[in-house]
Amino acid sequence: MATKVKVAEARDIPVGQARVVEASGKPIALVNADGTLYAVDNTCLHRGGPVGEGDLDGLVLTCPWHGWRWDVKTGVSVNNPAVRLACYAVSVEDGAVYVEL
Ligand code: FES
Repeated sequence: MATKVKVAEARDIPVGQARVVEASGKPIALVNADGTLYAVDNTCLHRGGPVGEGDLDGLVLTCPWHGWRWDVKTGVSVNNPAVRLACYAVSVEDGAVYVEL
């Protein structure tokens, strides 16, 4: 069964920005793409870079280490669609952001 974990306050994730948050010890990239929040694994599948520290362009988050690009809605790599980051369901309640692990 999925566990819902509070990871942030919604006001701390501005539109067009990504943040690295932690849920039960797991680093997660939390992204606000045009007002919709998405959560994907923070660990880049190239060489482990922190994707949540990268730049967001629409739904595409770019890893700051070597530029691999990730679709935050599906977790799929834009460079190599065979590779996919885990995605997590996100909800907002009373201004708090929760992800389901
Ligand atoms: S570690 Fe992310 S692009 Fe290389």
